[in-house]
Amino acid sequence: MKLRYLSHSGFQITTSNNQTILIDPFITGNPNAPVKVEDLKADFIVLTHAHGDHIGDSFTIAKKCDSLFICVNELANYCAEKGFRAHNMHIGGSHNFDFGYLKFTIAHHGSMTPDNTYGGEPAGVILKIDGKTLYHTGDTGLFYDMKLIGEMNPIDYILLPIGDNFTMGITDAVKAVELVNPKNAIPMHYNTFPVIEADPEEFKIKVEAIGKKCIIMQFGEEIEL
Ligand code: NI
Ligand code: MN
Repeated sequence: MKLRYLSHSGFQITTSNNQTILIDPFITGNPNAPVKVEDLKADFIVLTHAHGDHIGDSFTIAKKCDSLFICVNELANYCAEKGFRAHNMHIGGSHNFDFGYLKFTIAHHGSMTPDNTYGGEPAGVILKIDGKTLYHTGDTGLFYDMKLIGEMNPIDYILLPIGDNFTMGITDAVKAVELVNPKNAIPMHYNTFPVIEADPEEFKIKVEAIGKKCIIMQFGEEIEL
């Protein structure tokens, strides 16, 4: 499986059987976006919540690719009302898709859509693809149940926000890594806007100080997992 960082909370996963999954693809209005919207494709689009910096360019991409949205019920209904294909799920629920396993977790945040309708509960997402387990926390504050999530789903890669203000900052994100106990931590949701400026190198030093590994992905970088 390949993991590409699209900056902010956006990731592109390409599975070994060549399926493409986009998580929270936010390109238009994102000064760090390393790609053009028209260069992205997706068989599946996973949204952690309805905020504009997470729905992002999903509808443009889905219109072109007939992508299947995977979201919590209310947000899936919102996508379906816009004419898109959607698989409705909810927090605590898992499902096996063509690409692998997906489960939604809690996240402590909000989730109004850009046109100000209720987008359901915000979520994190656990993915098991090609023998690796990823946990994209979505936008969230720190919560102690991360320990339970890590115990029940040994995590290879946690993707978590460090930008503060709307989500965890560095100190809380380091604590999250300690609670989840993943093999690797990848920071996200930083340096897109002045209010979420954070130094990923500082996060890495602090993660390594608790004996964990940290991978800082460059915007646009793709790594093999
Ligand atoms: Ni948000
Ligand atoms: Mn956000």
